[in-house]
Amino acid sequence: MSLAGSPVRPHAATLSRSVRLFQAFLHEQDDPDRFYGALASDTVSQLSQWTTLSGSRVLDVGGGPGYFADAFEAAGARYAGVEPDAGEMTARGDAAGDSLRASGLELPIVAGGFDVTLSSNVLEHVPEPERMADEMVRVTRPGGLVYLSWTPWLSPWGGHETAPWHYLGGRRAADRYARRHGRRPKNDYGRSLYPCSVGRMLRWAREAGRQGRVLDVATIPRYHPRWAHRVMSVPGLREIASWNAVIVLSVAREPAGD
Ligand SMILES: C[S@@+](CC[C@H](N)C(=O)[O-])C[C@H]1O[C@@H](n2cnc3c(N)ncnc32)[C@H](O)[C@@H]1O
Repeated sequence: MSLAGSPVRPHAATLSRSVRLFQAFLHEQDDPDRFYGALASDTVSQLSQWTTLSGSRVLDVGGGPGYFADAFEAAGARYAGVEPDAGEMTARGDAAGDSLRASGLELPIVAGGFDVTLSSNVLEHVPEPERMADEMVRVTRPGGLVYLSWTPWLSPWGGHETAPWHYLGGRRAADRYARRHGRRPKNDYGRSLYPCSVGRMLRWAREAGRQGRVLDVATIPRYHPRWAHRVMSVPGLREIASWNAVIVLSVAREPAGD
C-alpha cells in the first residue's frame, strides 16, 4: 500500500546500515522481497540527500518487476518503470506503477520528461552502458537528477552467480557454471552480462560534463559507510572495493551550444 508523501527516513551511511543491507543481500535468492524491499527504501533515502522526491516524476530504467515502486510512491513520487523483459516485468504479478516495455538503450520518452532517472544494477546488463546513460540524461529535465548504480566487473560480485570465477575470465566462468548446473547462467557473459568498470563510466561522465550536459553530484560506493567512500578516489582499488558503484549527476540547465 502506498503512503504517499510520508517523510523519508534521513539517510545515514553508517556501518550498521551496511551490515543490514549485506544481511538482506544474503537472502536475495530465497527471499527477494526482503532484499529488494530493503534496497528500495535505502535507495529512496539515499536519493533524498540530493533531491526532493515528493511530487517528482521518477523513471526507473531496468526496474524489473518494480521492486522500487512502493518505496518511491511512499515518498510521494510518481513512479514509472522501463523494462524490456516481459517475464521480469510481471515476475511479481501485474506490472507496477506506469510501466513501459522498452530498452534503456532507446527510451521511447520525450526529452526532459522526468525529474529523476535512476537505474539500479542495470548498466552491467547492457552492451553499451554509455548509450543507456546518454538516454537517461536526455529524458531528465534540466536541473533534474540521474542516478546510475551498477556492479563493476572486478567487484567480488562482478560475475554475479558465476563469481568469483569471473576473475579468470567471463566466458570461462559462464561455461563452468553451465557445466556444473546443466544450464547457462541467467547472467551470461557476453549475452546478459558485460564488463562495465568504474573507470569506463567515470570517463563517460567526464565527457558528458565537458560537453556541458551534466554536473557532477557524487561518486560513491553504494553500500559502504561514509568513512569508506574515499575508495572511489583510488583508481584500481575502486574497481574491486566499491562492490557497487554509484554516479549521481545533475542535468545542466543550459545545454552547451554546438
Ligand atoms: C539485476 S536486475 C535489476 C532490477 C532492479 N533495477 C533492481 O535493482 O532491483 C537487471 C534488470 O535490467 C534489465 N535489463 C536488461 N537489459 C536492459 C535494457 N537494455 N534496458 C533496460 N533494462 C534492461 C533486466 O531485464 C533486469 O530486469
